[in-house]
Amino acid sequence: MDPIRLGIVGFGKVGKACAETLLHSKDLSLAGIVRRSESLTLPLAEAFRKVPVVTHMAALPRAEGALLCVPAAQVAGAARDCLQHGIPVIESSVLHGEAFCAYRETIHRLALHHEVPAIVGAGWDPGGLSILRSLFALLVPQGGIEETHRIADSLHHIAMVRQVVGVKAALCTEHRTSSGRRQRYVYVELEPGVDGDRVAAAIRADPLFLGDDTVVFPVESVAALEQGRGLVLERRSAPGSVAHQRLLFEARFDEVWTTAWMMLAAARALPGLRPGAYTLLDLPVRDLWGTQADQAVRAWL
Ligand SMILES: NC(=O)c1ccc[n+]([C@@H]2O[C@H](COP(=O)([O-])OP(=O)(O)OC[C@H]3O[C@@H](n4cnc5c(N)ncnc54)[C@H](OP(=O)(O)O)[C@@H]3O)[C@@H](O)[C@H]2O)c1
Repeated sequence: MDPIRLGIVGFGKVGKACAETLLHSKDLSLAGIVRRSESLTLPLAEAFRKVPVVTHMAALPRAEGALLCVPAAQVAGAARDCLQHGIPVIESSVLHGEAFCAYRETIHRLALHHEVPAIVGAGWDPGGLSILRSLFALLVPQGGIEETHRIADSLHHIAMVRQVVGVKAALCTEHRTSSGRRQRYVYVELEPGVDGDRVAAAIRADPLFLGDDTVVFPVESVAALEQGRGLVLERRSAPGSVAHQRLLFEARFDEVWTTAWMMLAAARALPGLRPGAYTLLDLPVRDLWGTQADQAVRAWL
């Protein structure tokens, strides 16, 4: 199967991350870059020198989809423009809830009218994180979900943790759950060969942490924690549920790259999609793997 040819509209942070990934992809290819006229003369990195740079998607021959990487306020206009030219779009609009549903409905009508598919909200949030939230809710149907963002901002050092044998470096943060209970997250960088469970038990047993709900996360580098974005997603079963369940997802990541990779996964689902607008929740996960679908089933099931 030939690679799916994609154009990138807007060569900012997400656009560049998509482009760099496309250069090394086997099943997706970079048809060209669409820039504003004032950006056309800006120099591109050596790797992109041979890539066509134009001011409109329609000028890219045989493009099978457009990755919309323009600022949020320009996404709807760019989507409309591509759909009118019969070009499928993938975008990662940062809308949520009712605003997202209204936007999706508008794109859906346009996509039906022009008989092309559109994939909306396919970034990190909305996007990959939306899939995780919904998976957590499926696994624990009765319960509450809590999100704590930007852990890095509230991280601080606690001397006691550094004194636990085997701990090279540590950072802590705390927050209140919706029920008002204090929770503590302790990130520890361990000396080679040290047992993480023993360290976690020692920290929880210290008078400083007694009485608190303390979760200890071994990490490769405490210094790296203080950079980038952080998120803790937690779902707990409702009080009185048949089973006591708790799911915890902890992440430190660069949102630009997760967004770019999610948009490219969505692009793999384009072939065979009927006209209309789709979110990531509407697409079979298998289709996000494209030509690697069978391999994904073997690896992840
Ligand atoms: N869902 C998520 O989690 C998520 C996360 C991050 C970003 N996003 C979305 O991804 C999109 C791209 O984000 P980004 O961080 O890559 O943005 P960015 O760095 O600001 O880049 C946007 C690019 O769009 C082009 N552009 C077109 N019209 C423009 C205008 N009126 N003003 C400024 N630039 C204009 C420019 O490229 P040229 O100079 O090449 O024309 C610019 O570099 C946004 O819509 C953002 O909301 C979503």
